[in-house]
Amino acid sequence: MNLLSPPERVDIVEVAPRDGFQSIREPLPTDEKIRCIQLLIEAGVTRMEIGSFVSPRAIPQMADTGALVTAFADRAAMRFSALVPNLRGAELALTQGIRELVFVVSVSESHNQANVRRSVAQSLEDLARIVELLAREGNACLRLDLGTSFDCPYEGSIAWHQVDDVLSQARALCGNLHLEVALCDTTGRATPYQVAEHFRQLVSRHQGPRLTWAFHGHDTYGMGVANALFAIHHGATTVDTACAGLGGCPFAPGATGNTATEDLVYALNGGQVYSGIDLSRLLAAADVIAALPGGQTASHLRLVPRDRVA
Ligand code: COA
Ligand code: ZN
Repeated sequence: MNLLSPPERVDIVEVAPRDGFQSIREPLPTDEKIRCIQLLIEAGVTRMEIGSFVSPRAIPQMADTGALVTAFADRAAMRFSALVPNLRGAELALTQGIRELVFVVSVSESHNQANVRRSVAQSLEDLARIVELLAREGNACLRLDLGTSFDCPYEGSIAWHQVDDVLSQARALCGNLHLEVALCDTTGRATPYQVAEHFRQLVSRHQGPRLTWAFHGHDTYGMGVANALFAIHHGATTVDTACAGLGGCPFAPGATGNTATEDLVYALNGGQVYSGIDLSRLLAAADVIAALPGGQTASHLRLVPRDRVA
């Protein structure tokens, strides 16, 4: 893929129900979440990180993820995923009917400690157990979220070879499993050139028929759409975004929300890149999400007069 020819399609994973809702201090009522998720599905979202199976003491906002999965259990066309930080989370997610697990491990030791209270090596031990579990399940697949792939709030800039080190260890554990690897710009501090360099280096070193690439970015420095596009043009086929740009990571001080889904869809539409998402319906969902009490949003497109959004 060179910079001048857009791909035919990009898979968007809508992460507002996880990365976004977890950032609202007072847990949202489950019914409110259901209403937002419904609007996102109506807008054409087909992949969604619906929540996470984590300690309810660490992140009380995600305690109703099981109820959300149940509420949407009849949506056969939807690909719902859920973030899991350990084996316990993976077991819970599978029991609730989630088939796509998002296992998170940070490249930097200090962020992994802050986020999941264990070393990278301990997280990788959990990954090994989760892979065994998935192998027994047969039809489940794994997304590996490599947190702080570009920048760590405690350690600063992260070099591609540090990501390579963790990814190599993780891949050695994953055997034949279909693996989607997401380079995550947890703080939103990456620049497009750094994103391009990391993808170029890692994609050339890690190849295989059962390996695909994703980018998870935050828009803290206003680089979100540019970073996503550079990722797409250097190997990513999937991008995580949050409707209305809702969010902010409780374990990444200063980080704002994920890149707004509508901002990326606008850019993709300009290149006739298929995402399956209807922009005007998505903006209607963004208005509802932006009105949630206690939420922080950051979307460009939502503030543009609607008759100027084609
Ligand atoms: N789901 C639900 N409960 C879980 C759990 C999971 N995946 N993992 C652990 N717990 C429970 C334990 O049963 C225990 O409960 P108890 O005190 O009632 O007995 C409690 O949480 C603590 O368990 P422990 O194994 O000691 O974990 P910890 O306190 O060291 O915390 C994590 C580790 C990973 C569970 C916690 O840090 C966490 O959930 N982090 C999530 C971070 C996150 O989602 N960040 C944003 C995304 S990048
Ligand atoms: Zn994030």
